[in-house]
Amino acid sequence: MSKQTVLMTAVGSYLPANVVTNDDLSACVDTSDEWIRRRTGITQRHFVADGETTADLASKAATKALYQAGLGASDIDLIIVATTTPDNTFPSTATKVQHQLGASGAIAFDIQAVCAGFIYAVDVADAMLRGGRGRRALVIGAESFSKLLDWQDRTTCVLFGDGAGAVILEIDEKDSDFGIRSSVLHADGAYRDILYVDGGPSSNQDVGYVRMEGKEVFRHAIEKLAAVMDEALTAADMQPQDIDWLVPHQANIRIIDGMQKKMQLPNDKVVRTVDQHANTSAASIPLALATAVDDGRVKNGDVLAMEAIGGGLVWGAALVKYGRPA
Ligand code: ACO
Repeated sequence: MSKQTVLMTAVGSYLPANVVTNDDLSACVDTSDEWIRRRTGITQRHFVADGETTADLASKAATKALYQAGLGASDIDLIIVATTTPDNTFPSTATKVQHQLGASGAIAFDIQAVCAGFIYAVDVADAMLRGGRGRRALVIGAESFSKLLDWQDRTTCVLFGDGAGAVILEIDEKDSDFGIRSSVLHADGAYRDILYVDGGPSSNQDVGYVRMEGKEVFRHAIEKLAAVMDEALTAADMQPQDIDWLVPHQANIRIIDGMQKKMQLPNDKVVRTVDQHANTSAASIPLALATAVDDGRVKNGDVLAMEAIGGGLVWGAALVKYGRPA
C-alpha cells in the first residue's frame, strides 16, 4: 500500500487596507512608539474597516491561495477556519467562507484555539485528509482581533492586529519526504485565567475584551514552545539544523528571538512579521508564511518549523516540507 502524505502546496493572505501605526495609537492611548517597539517589536498593525468581517478577510486570503495553487473552489473538499473573532456565534465563519468562495459541498467548520488555532487546524485537516475525508483542504487563520480590544487597557490594546492567511493541503500518494512531517498539540486549562476574553454567550451574553497577564504568558510561551518544538523534531526524526525557516506565531519579537536562541538558529532562518502585522492570533503564521513565499525566501522543498501558543493555554508545533515533489 502506498504511503499517504499531506502536502502544503500554496499559501495566500489578506490584510485590511487600514494601517494604524504606533504613533496613531499614541494619539488616543497612553502609550508611545518607543515603548511598543522596545517591548514587542511592533511598529504598525492593520484594522478592518466598518462592515468588513473575518469571513471577508478569510475568503480573500483563500482566493489567493487557490490562485497560487491553480485550483478552483470546486476542488476543495474541506474548509477549516481557525478564528477567535467569528462573524456570528453561529453559524460558523467557515460556512460563510464556503458560500463566498462557491465551494458548495465542502465540509466546513471553525476551530477555536486562539493564537494556536492555525497549528490546531493543520493537525485536524491532516488527520481528516489521511482518514479519507477528501483530497484537498483549505486551512485558514482569520481574525478581526481589533473587535476584542479594550481601548482603556494599554497593556493589551497595542498588541493586536487583523488579517488572514490560508494554505492548501493536499493528499499525495507518492512516497516522498514532502508535506506535514509532524505536528504536536497540547492544552492546559489550569492557565485559562492568564489570557482570556471576559465575555461569551453562556457567561454574560457579551462579546467581551481580551484580558492578559502579560508576564505570565511570556514565561509560559518560551518554556512551552521550546518543549513542543523538541517533541515535533523528535517525532519527525529531525534536528534544528534540518530546518530552513522558523515561521513562528508573531506575538512579540522577544518571544521569537527567545525561540531562535533556544533552537540555535541563525537570524536569516527566522521569518519575522510582527513589526508589520502585530499579533493577528490564528492568522499570524499563515500571514508570515505568505510574506516569505511572496518575497522568495521560502522555496519549494524548504523545511518549515511552525509554533504557537494562545489562551487556554493551548500550544503546538508543526514541521512541514513546503511545496510538492518534482
Ligand atoms: N505603553 C506604555 N507603557 C505601558 C504599556 C503601553 N502600551 N503597557 C504597559 N505599560 C507599562 C506598565 O504599566 C508598566 O509600568 P510600571 O512599571 O510603571 O508599572 C511597564 O510598562 C511594564 O509593564 P509590563 O506589563 O511589566 O511589561 P512587560 O515587559 O511584561 O511587557 C508585554 C508587556 C509586551 C505584554 C509582554 O508581557 C508580552 O509580550 N507578553 C506575552 C504576550 C503574548 O505573547 N501573548 C500571546 C498570546 S495572545 C492570544 O492568545 C490571544
